[in-house]
Amino acid sequence: MSIQFHESTGIFSLETAHTLYQMKADSTGVLLHLYYGKKTGGDMDYLIRLTDRGFSGNPYELSGNRGYSLDTLPQEYSGNGVGDFRLPAVQARSENGSRSVDLRFKAYAVIKGRPPLSGLPFVREARDTETLTVTLCDSVIGLEAQLQYHVFPTQDVIVRSVRLVNTGDRPLILEKAASACVDFLYGQFDVLHFHGRHCMERVPERSALPRGVMSFGSRRGMSSHHSNPFVILCEKTATENAGDCYGCMLMYSGNHAEEMEVDQAGSTRLVTGIHPDGFSWTLARGEAFQTPEVLLSYSENGLNGLSCRYHEIIRRQVIRPRWQTAGRPVLINSWEAAYFDFDAEKILRFARHAKEMGMEMLVLDDGWFGKRGDDHAGLGDWVVNEKKLGCSMRELSDQIHALGLQFGLWFEPEMVNEDSDLYRAHPDWALTDPDRKPMVARNQLVLDMSRQDVVDHLFYALCAVLDHAKIEYVKWDFNRSVANCYSHALPAERQGEVAHRFMLGTYQLLERLLDRYPDLIIEGCSGGGGRFDAGMLYYCPQIWCSDDTDAIERLEIQRGTSYGYPVSTMGSHVSAAPNHQTGRMVPLNTRGIVAQAGTFGYELNPEMLSDEEKEEIKKQIEAYHRFAPLIAQGDYYRLTELDGGKEYTAWMFAARDGSKALVQLVVTHTRANGAFPHVRLQGLIPEASYRLEGTDRTYTGASLMYGGISFPLKWGDYPAHQLYFTRT
Ligand code: DGJ
Repeated sequence: MSIQFHESTGIFSLETAHTLYQMKADSTGVLLHLYYGKKTGGDMDYLIRLTDRGFSGNPYELSGNRGYSLDTLPQEYSGNGVGDFRLPAVQARSENGSRSVDLRFKAYAVIKGRPPLSGLPFVREARDTETLTVTLCDSVIGLEAQLQYHVFPTQDVIVRSVRLVNTGDRPLILEKAASACVDFLYGQFDVLHFHGRHCMERVPERSALPRGVMSFGSRRGMSSHHSNPFVILCEKTATENAGDCYGCMLMYSGNHAEEMEVDQAGSTRLVTGIHPDGFSWTLARGEAFQTPEVLLSYSENGLNGLSCRYHEIIRRQVIRPRWQTAGRPVLINSWEAAYFDFDAEKILRFARHAKEMGMEMLVLDDGWFGKRGDDHAGLGDWVVNEKKLGCSMRELSDQIHALGLQFGLWFEPEMVNEDSDLYRAHPDWALTDPDRKPMVARNQLVLDMSRQDVVDHLFYALCAVLDHAKIEYVKWDFNRSVANCYSHALPAERQGEVAHRFMLGTYQLLERLLDRYPDLIIEGCSGGGGRFDAGMLYYCPQIWCSDDTDAIERLEIQRGTSYGYPVSTMGSHVSAAPNHQTGRMVPLNTRGIVAQAGTFGYELNPEMLSDEEKEEIKKQIEAYHRFAPLIAQGDYYRLTELDGGKEYTAWMFAARDGSKALVQLVVTHTRANGAFPHVRLQGLIPEASYRLEGTDRTYTGASLMYGGISFPLKWGDYPAHQLYFTRT
């Protein structure tokens, strides 16, 4: 049993292979957080100490005990306005205007497995999953908080969420409903968060947590390029390979907040969930609100150790079972090859070249529907533009399949152009404020996915295309932030629900499509990686990582993404040189190696390739197939530190059984008379012997891990190296 309740001590213990999480309801019913970290084998309630801190008051029933304060004790799910002055996890407005929430223990239950969530993505049950529900209640307002803990022992992950139920007889309005609160009584932490912008997503930034509140998040109606819903708290000395690291990943694609507060005594609170700004949710009597899930993990083996945990749980329990281990086709995408300028003839020419080089799927990107000659018109009209194409979609798809390739198609379902038949027929289906001109971005508006009629319409419109032609893959784009988040279908007092209802509508549409087309690959995309999160990964086994396809820029973007997400989910393509975003020239070999650390494909005009380049691409694809299982399923390690030298970046994949390893390194700054690039490998068996492919040389795992290996100096810009070791 990974979940235990000890009657004698009142302690709940949640154990995974390497971690322990403990909490306890005290004599007043306050659920205290005791400990999260490395397994200790003991009860951790001795860490709780009471002391009288000025201006930290006492609950009424303990007013004689000045040492007992909600403000100084570690809480499992913090209430609001009743004496804990730190960040609240929940805020609820009662009919009388009070916003106070005081949660006390009511009951608990433990079950094997985990019930699925309805309408939200969730971490799929593993063989050994167990669930603890601890119910807290504010009996004055009738609010129940059912704290859910799904324990994944093998993966060392605890998944939390909260179901808030109005058990009273008056309506309540939730104004904040965090998914989790974690209090760390002791320790001083750095926080790593992942900021960015369009074309430069998930840039890791490490900062010391100051006293007071620090918060990250997105209010863009999407998880965003700008701040990923994933943070890491680590001890100050933690490096890639050593030190305590805690991860907190929200499984959600909409507005989110990660708030941290270091209090008067140096304790740290982390609260994460749907962004409270602009959020409100009316709970009538008997109604419930389910928060998104949060994946918590801890590793004592530094940032790489923590990343491996997240990679594994995402690969095994988040990605749809259909795609967990299945190889993904090497695709060629038409966007950077042709943009909007194509017809079926051109696409078929691309397909013939692609087939010759060994590619397996052709993806027709934006521009095939409605009046879509450029980005001014057509979104919303998911009807094939046969005039532009010169044939029907079925004819094109049949011809592509006849060449031996699979076929994929681009959609941007949640958007609409004002110049579209859909908008002309249903202007109220767009999110717009009454009496106000909406913000426009890329000439488009956002559809109101909170409306069931909109979701139904999109479902049937997409099915019509998917039923008409043979389509194995959909690229699902989302090309602007959401503003004017007002639904014409909801009353004034429920407008605070729109942003979350929008996400529920999107998730519902994805779910219904996948129910109907279970073999379909949906690649997520949002102007590149603007919605790269565990919520979308539940539906989409891969997500286009960035609109920046420059291999040198991608080194940073893919590295930053790898802190939380496995490379098997990162859409990554070899694009043209000079690159379309930066104008940079990068050798084809290097572009191939960088794209290999992802789902691998091409995004260039194959008609512009020389015969030598085509030959090189053939070899690249063969090499990719050879290494694909190791890349997709092996343990991934960053071999260069975040603040390490700026001259090369290296990473590796190690088979979980230690039988092989692939090391890849790209020189980002070639120097005259430079130093040899050098890395120490990870994940090998120290006493095993490994042969370096292409040589007779063998090394012990210990030599490669502790002595490392150096690389020869190469001439020219951005050379790449690749070493493959097999256990002898
Ligand atoms: C943004 C995507 O990230 C690109 O790859 C491409 O699909 C364009 N949208 C098409 O409009």
